[in-house]
Amino acid sequence: MKSIALVTCAASLPIDYDMPPLLDALATLGMQTQVCDWEDPSIDWAGFDAVLLRSPWNYIDQLPTFLRWCERVESMTTLLNPAVVARFALDKHYLAALSSLGVPTVPTQFIESGMDPHEAIRALLAAHPESGDVVVKPTIGAYSKNVQRFAREQAHEAGDYAASLLANGSLVIVQPYLPLVDEVGETNLTYFDNAYSHAIRKSAMLLADGTVNVPTLDLRAAREADEAERAVAEAALRAAAQYMGLARPLLYGRVDLIRDKQGRPVVLELDICEPSLNLPFAPGSALRFAQVLARRLGG
Ligand SMILES: Nc1ncnc2c1ncn2[C@@H]1O[C@H](COP(=O)(O)OP(=O)(O)O)[C@@H](O)[C@H]1O
Ligand SMILES: [Mg+2]
Repeated sequence: MKSIALVTCAASLPIDYDMPPLLDALATLGMQTQVCDWEDPSIDWAGFDAVLLRSPWNYIDQLPTFLRWCERVESMTTLLNPAVVARFALDKHYLAALSSLGVPTVPTQFIESGMDPHEAIRALLAAHPESGDVVVKPTIGAYSKNVQRFAREQAHEAGDYAASLLANGSLVIVQPYLPLVDEVGETNLTYFDNAYSHAIRKSAMLLADGTVNVPTLDLRAAREADEAERAVAEAALRAAAQYMGLARPLLYGRVDLIRDKQGRPVVLELDICEPSLNLPFAPGSALRFAQVLARRLGG
């Protein structure tokens, strides 16, 4: 019987809506499971056949520690997805890597340390005269944390906000706000072993008045991804695997797409480390995931 550690943290377990259906599905296939806090020093990670990254979402404030933990666990047993994926995927600089490999992504300007944030925002707005608003966010983040939308007339406030993120040690992303998200939402596509499983629609999180929604379940709904979306998502997964030099396809991954001004899908986010997989929206998806995992572990 294979034993699997499902990795979470105390603060995130209550909002990990994938955990209950996944535990059920793994049990159905006769796998032994244990929900584990990655920071629990008493756990013997070597005792599991696989350690599955599920919801260790407090990594945001301690990324170097979390990455070291991933590497330590990987030296003892199978970590899924592997540590190299965590290193790549938990910092949105990967958008530059995807774009360099020809994947359509949201136009992104990085503000690295030492750069003038006001100048970077002026440059972004000048490069996108058609764009009304601008989005400022940290390169390391999740759950819309510290993501802010500003009107073009608030470029100065946007620069001040970016400066405050830099002062707190974050590097920063600025993007034009792609307004079609208000009408058509965002599409999140879930893949297992490079095979499309299901998708959801997520409502726009950044309201024009500056309010930031958190992506609770009521702001998500089942949706089929269309052919153009699937082509972009698959290109993104292929490019990421190529960039990292992976020998095997990613066990799981989620690709988040919004539409550009012309209505073409572009990558907003690639979540291939510890994604919400939206299993509750797709009957059968938890079992599909469990089957792929069982196959990967050889039985
Ligand atoms: N450039 C953008 N245009 C439109 N909406 C955006 C843009 N960037 C972020 N958003 C909105 O903010 C939310 C959070 O941003 P995202 O880049 O997905 O970061 P996180 O890692 O916090 O989920 C998205 O779900 C989307 O609704
Ligand atoms: Mg997101």
